[in-house]
Amino acid sequence: MCGIVGITSNKQVTSSIINSLRKLEYRGYDSAGIATLNNGFINEVKCEGRVNALEKNLAKNKLQGNVGIGHVRWATHGIPSTINAHPHSSEKVSVVHNGIIENSTILKKYLIKKGHKFKSQTDTEVIVHLITEYLKKDDLKKTILKILKKLHGSFALGIIFKDEPDLIVGARRGSPLAVGYGPNENYLGSDSYALKSMTNKISYLNDGEFCVIKKDGVEFFDVKGLKINKKILELSSNEQTYDKGDYKHYMAKEIEEQPTTIKNCINEYIDKINSSINIFNFPWKSSEISSITLIGCGTAYHSCLMAKYWFEQLTSINISVDIASEFRYRNNRFNKETLYVFVSQSGETADTFAALDLCNKNKMKTCSVVNVVESSIARESKFVLPIHCGPEIGVASTKAFLGQMLVLYILCLKIGKMRNDINKKVYFTKIKSLFDLSKMLKKSLETESRIETICSSFVDIKGSMFLGRGYSFPIALEGALKLKELAYVHAEGYPAGEMKHGPLALIEEGMPVVVLAPRDQYYKKTISNMQEVIARGAKVLLITNKSKDEIYSENIWEKIEVENISDDLLPFLITVPLQKLAYYSALKKGYDIDKPRNLAKSVTVE
Ligand code: F6R
Repeated sequence: MCGIVGITSNKQVTSSIINSLRKLEYRGYDSAGIATLNNGFINEVKCEGRVNALEKNLAKNKLQGNVGIGHVRWATHGIPSTINAHPHSSEKVSVVHNGIIENSTILKKYLIKKGHKFKSQTDTEVIVHLITEYLKKDDLKKTILKILKKLHGSFALGIIFKDEPDLIVGARRGSPLAVGYGPNENYLGSDSYALKSMTNKISYLNDGEFCVIKKDGVEFFDVKGLKINKKILELSSNEQTYDKGDYKHYMAKEIEEQPTTIKNCINEYIDKINSSINIFNFPWKSSEISSITLIGCGTAYHSCLMAKYWFEQLTSINISVDIASEFRYRNNRFNKETLYVFVSQSGETADTFAALDLCNKNKMKTCSVVNVVESSIARESKFVLPIHCGPEIGVASTKAFLGQMLVLYILCLKIGKMRNDINKKVYFTKIKSLFDLSKMLKKSLETESRIETICSSFVDIKGSMFLGRGYSFPIALEGALKLKELAYVHAEGYPAGEMKHGPLALIEEGMPVVVLAPRDQYYKKTISNMQEVIARGAKVLLITNKSKDEIYSENIWEKIEVENISDDLLPFLITVPLQKLAYYSALKKGYDIDKPRNLAKSVTVE
């Protein structure tokens, strides 16, 4: 993870670096730092904690300079501390780094033998000493080429040099890096979002490339050091203003926005007049695709798992689902007739990107479902399906999850129709239901006050279980993940039918268990499993949809009822109370909801 920024200008750069670092905090927020070059000296200010803390430090220790680099960290090597915070500097050079140097231990041994002294526990510091060592004999460009060859792993680097008063080097292998162009100044950033307040003119580095940025121009080089030309892209210049408004947290706002984001997405993809799906220029014929593999991480993986149930229900296509970090290292059977679909909110997740890259290298059909359309995953996919849900700032994914599920559902209808798996009547009924989804979501948000009370029972507990069958199983996994990451409560999502094969042993008197049992084809079976956990002392919170029919079970502790919609869209509605359960549990514990511990919004390390 980590966020990088660099600016070389004819003005002072510190405050612009700070502004960009604030935008990059979604990538990591355990420590932050800046280094600038002033009168031939590298000076740095860094600290444990967030950009606010860094700004306070800067008020005491002013940093002057027209060239500088900044960093927000998500620790990989070494604890979050001031000493491990980036930039890391020698007298000659200062480096910010996102990624992991896999051979740092070997390089460190070599450098120590050469007399270099290390201050931090980071892998990044080897880059500093390696550059310092090579600069003794070689010029800057040769040095960069040499160190890039020596470093193993994936990384993005920003580097300034004592003896170069107007120069920043950026280098990319794996981790994303963008270059921005301004008037009498140019920029380096982990993404275009960090640079958007300064410019809308952007170029992206590809894997293996590096660049030399001066205030009047930028040069790009390939792996061999040969000069290359780069396209300058013009991004939409109106920077999207997105603040919390009257909400306490972005997460609260993003949950409430879901009826709107879902409506926007449906309007983007579905033509209301003739019920057709607007997926134009889909590059492959249906006869060219015999199977689909869906790939993602975390919440995005859960949306893939959800889609598997829909594809199996509505189409005859073979479908498999994979966790990106597993897929990338397995001995995959690549198949020309498989469509590989990569699902990611940020579009920057390192594991998902690597899985995509692997498929591209094997000349597979690749398509991505992303929120950030300028992201690396979107750029590298052969076809992109945006989820149109607007910026998601809260680290815990909420509206993007619903957006991903929606786009996958629409893709399923599209492919089902292309293959004639879905008959006209079923197709039109499904499209009609989609147009009810936003309204029903809005009503399901009204379960709020009950959840606020119920969550007291999820705060001080040893653990909890989330159970569901069929369509509700991926949602059970997602509900458990949300509670873990926000309220730091151990929670397991489980297929309800699997409980008897071991996990029932965990049920103790008074343990809160969430049972997802909407009235779909799995309902009766799930209710039987619920009775099994109640019989063993569990306090069951049942989440179902409204119905006149009684529930045949006694001793249900609490019940939340969402609205009614077609069975295959109920997963959208039952997700909402689970998001709120995690939100209010974390709120009760006084945790930082938008920035939970140990996490970051964009996971750009593997
Ligand atoms: C959980 C969460 C993560 C992400 C995962 C993938 O709330 O946000 O599990 O879903 O890191 O991120 P993207 O979707 O950006 O690839």
